Amino acid sequence: MNRRSFLERTCTAGAVGFSMALPPTYAAQARPRSYGRTLLVDAAGQALRASKLTPHVNYLFHYPYAATPVFLLDLGKAAVGQSLTAGGRSGVYHWPGGSGAQHSVVAYCAICPYKLVHPSADVSLISYRADRARRGVQNGLIHCCADHCQFDPAQGAAVLAGPAQQPLTAVLLSHDPASDTLTAYATLGAVLFDEFFGKFGGQLTSRNGLDPRAPASGRARVWELSAYSRNSVRC
Ligand code: FES
Repeated sequence: MNRRSFLERTCTAGAVGFSMALPPTYAAQARPRSYGRTLLVDAAGQALRASKLTPHVNYLFHYPYAATPVFLLDLGKAAVGQSLTAGGRSGVYHWPGGSGAQHSVVAYCAICPYKLVHPSADVSLISYRADRARRGVQNGLIHCCADHCQFDPAQGAAVLAGPAQQPLTAVLLSHDPASDTLTAYATLGAVLFDEFFGKFGGQLTSRNGLDPRAPASGRARVWELSAYSRNSVRC
């Protein structure tokens, strides 16, 4: 199957009113791709409080499948929604910005769209860093050291540098102000899950002993990347 056939175009529910004024081709793309609702929980299985996230710490959970990693970040300031291009024929979509009380919490699939590099328990070549390190083009970016793709988490994971042709896929979070909890419910932008499972499914099965395509359950454990992955490579 052609790579582009895997690309799925979605947009945010938060842009409903906005999409009504747009041409039909754009409006058709203005939809998130819904999956099961998954509450983010801590190591003890308790609902994670958004306000307890430490800004600029690289957190990780799995969604919408048990084996697909997602970066969770509190950027320390509001992330404003914006329009993005998913590359190729995928067109434009609107990322809604940050979640949480301060609109500073964002989540993105931790699968580099160039060659599908992703964090594992052994090593992570892709990670968030508050400072640019040696090869970064700015502070506060997600950097994949395989070919130096860099993404801006404050701008919907737009590509800042490197050969990637599309942003990281956004994961949409709903925030309950009363309980301060976060629930993942959809992806937004081009997804590469079929390619990911096609390339790594066997490894993921032997690594975890689980069906990698199993959907995430109703609760997802949030890790610090430094605890989840033994070696986080910086470049
Ligand atoms: S796979 Fe991420 S930059 Fe090459």
